[in-house]
Amino acid sequence: MTDPKEGSIVIIGSGLIGRSWAMVFASGGFKVRLYDIVKEQVTAALQDIRKQMEELQKSGMLRGNLSSEEQISLISGFTELKLALEGAIFIQECVPENLELKLKIFSDIDRYVNDSAIISSSTSCLSPTKMFNGLRHVKNCIVAHPVNPPYYVPLVELVPHPQTEQVTVEKTYTLMKKIGQSPVKLMKETDGFVLNRLQYAVISEAWRLVQDGVISPRDVDTVMSEGLGMRYAFLGPLETAHLNAEGFKSYCERYGEGIRRVLATFGPVPTFSGEVAEKIDQAFWEEQTDKPDQLKTRREWRDACLSHLAKLKKETKKN
Ligand code: NAI
Repeated sequence: MTDPKEGSIVIIGSGLIGRSWAMVFASGGFKVRLYDIVKEQVTAALQDIRKQMEELQKSGMLRGNLSSEEQISLISGFTELKLALEGAIFIQECVPENLELKLKIFSDIDRYVNDSAIISSSTSCLSPTKMFNGLRHVKNCIVAHPVNPPYYVPLVELVPHPQTEQVTVEKTYTLMKKIGQSPVKLMKETDGFVLNRLQYAVISEAWRLVQDGVISPRDVDTVMSEGLGMRYAFLGPLETAHLNAEGFKSYCERYGEGIRRVLATFGPVPTFSGEVAEKIDQAFWEEQTDKPDQLKTRREWRDACLSHLAKLKKETKKN
């Protein structure tokens, strides 16, 4: 457990990502203050967190060493920003992906926090430069981009503003490790950060293969889930290549020319609209069942799979 003197983690925005972060920090024994401008949202979030944690405990999937009751007692709700920020050591912003909104919230936070608190954003694709420019505490600002749902998928991309101090990066890195996440450090900002750049490359080629009539939407997904994805849950593309030959250089010598030839056939950036979007959308709805229920059921299944995978990865982690 954290020494109460260490202060609190403050989550700004109690939606999907804010709730999940609150659970992750509480699982690491941290006191969490969950703030939202909408009072009902905070109440709903606290109820939802309780329900989720109790279910996770029952199924043996609760993270951390504390019981669900102990973790729940670490989280409190706030609707006044200044009050929520008192004694904050780390602030994780989780408001909707809107630059104006984020600028406003960061300027408010900047006024109330002490000089050592770290101000972190969950943004998926807004640049640190755009969000943090001109803030008094810019050296303490960073992006800590989680993957949905952070409770089950541990990766966090740490992206600095050009004026972010290295100590902010290191402290955030250590904190993320402490709560069981897997942080990676980007040396500088780039549009889409790294996860989405890789993800967009895959989505684009999946789109083009469907568009060109090479494969069906469901089968292209099977290529990932039953093929590439089996390895990618444990190894990245570079080490996969390293192991598929006598090291990475040997892989390049053996396969480099073929890779270049195939890559040269890749088409332009897709439009992400029209007939192909329609075709892919159609392929993933089951007939004759309620649409919102389908998504809910499938998401619950996804989370259960991810939770089992997380357990497996923990068991197989190399020393
Ligand atoms: P959400 O819409 O579920 O939740 C946003 C919450 O912020 C709501 O509870 C809302 O009441 C609250 N809010 C709005 N204005 C506020 C303000 N001025 N002060 C305090 N609270 C305010 O959004 P979600 O999905 O949780 O996304 C939050 C952030 O996380 C976004 O920047 C998003 O890009 C990022 N993110 C989202 C992922 C996802 O898959 N949903 C994955 C990774 C990052």
